[in-house]
Amino acid sequence: MELVSRMMDGSISYELTNRLEPILSGSGVQREAKIDLTEVPLFEGCSERQLRSIARIARVVDAPAGSVITRVGEPGNEFYLILAGTVSVDLPVGKPVALRPGAFFGEMSLLDGDPRSATVVTETPVRLLVINRENFSVLRRDVPDLTQILLVTLSRRVRQVEQRADRTGAASAAL
Ligand code: CMP
Repeated sequence: MELVSRMMDGSISYELTNRLEPILSGSGVQREAKIDLTEVPLFEGCSERQLRSIARIARVVDAPAGSVITRVGEPGNEFYLILAGTVSVDLPVGKPVALRPGAFFGEMSLLDGDPRSATVVTETPVRLLVINRENFSVLRRDVPDLTQILLVTLSRRVRQVEQRADRTGAASAAL
């Protein structure tokens, strides 16, 4: 399997740090990445040209366990794809939801421009592929099924919250 970093001559940006804030503000240590985008399920249908385009617009960020990546109610300008590790999504109702490698988050604020709908915290050390708002349309253009995948994922997330709200309502009614 060919490394995209090789295809790209290492032009994908890679940042490794112990804290998230410096990464998100664009500082931190940068060095060549060895990230294989062909291994990412979301990019399965992409050609080499499309993978190169994604690698050009992406940043790779490492964050330790316990880092807050998004905070409910705050503005959001980045989309995150989990390359390694687990994050926990704190929802308004019920227990937090765990998202694992291959899953993404942060799409809602990019799609509707509203503040973050949930707080997302890293449960373990994580490696994230980060795409900013300006480049999200490039990602949607380059990943053939992304719009469809986003719609299906959003529907599932809405249903999940609705089911939890129903269960919570039924449980309080039974008291
Ligand atoms: P956004 O609102 O931009 O920031 C918080 C993110 O949490 C949100 O996008 C989704 O990606 C994610 N999220 C919200 N609700 C759920 C859910 N029910 N299950 C999984 N992830 C969710």
